[in-house]
Amino acid sequence: MARQPKKTVIAIDGPAGSGKSTVSKLIAKRLGLLYIDTGAMYRALTLKAIRLGVDLEDEGGLVELARSTDVELGYKYGKQVVLLDGEDVAGLIRTADLTNKVKYIARVPGVRHEMVRMQRRMGEKSGAVMEGRDITTVVFPDADYKFYLDADPEERAHRRFKELKESGSPITLEEINKDVIARDESDMKRSVGALKVADDAIVIDTTDLSVDGVVDEIMNKISQV
Ligand code: DC
Repeated sequence: MARQPKKTVIAIDGPAGSGKSTVSKLIAKRLGLLYIDTGAMYRALTLKAIRLGVDLEDEGGLVELARSTDVELGYKYGKQVVLLDGEDVAGLIRTADLTNKVKYIARVPGVRHEMVRMQRRMGEKSGAVMEGRDITTVVFPDADYKFYLDADPEERAHRRFKELKESGSPITLEEINKDVIARDESDMKRSVGALKVADDAIVIDTTDLSVDGVVDEIMNKISQV
């Protein structure tokens, strides 16, 4: 039997607020590829742990939870769905409380192992634009294209502030600034799957770029490689 051609994987990493999600969605649409938001997977598992009252300091319990959980990403009527054991939880995983708790899940090696396994399976099946923290370094180090999006912490906090203000949240810019710094710290310092720039990733500083500007830059690089 003829071998299936290898599916295209575009891997994108970067800190919270670097513009990864917005840009990755647009790139996926342009190229007709599946968009995979790996942060949503860690968030969905965190939701399950909270719901079941699993002790977030109990690594063994969290690994067991990850092993017995199915997280799938897809689209329904043009909107992203996050299926946690079959239930769409997309609307429940972006609260401030849950965002603060993801770090307990994301730092456990056995949990990451399960997540990476699911992510590889999804990417290999259909190709994807996959974004997260460890996609270029751990999940798909041999991806066809690898990008690292960055931006100044103040700019990232501003973007988040604007988003939250528009959704009616009373949170202050100062609180968001603190949150951005704390998330960078936990993302960059965990012992496995830490956020870092892969040697062969193309780094794009989005601080002074519009969303369209970043998309154009990525599309240009893809057509040059
Ligand atoms: O991309 P996001 O902000 O929705 O991700 C939420 C958290 O999930 C983030 O703070 C760290 C974790 N995460 C991770 O550890 N590895 C990934 N590949 C994606 C997200």
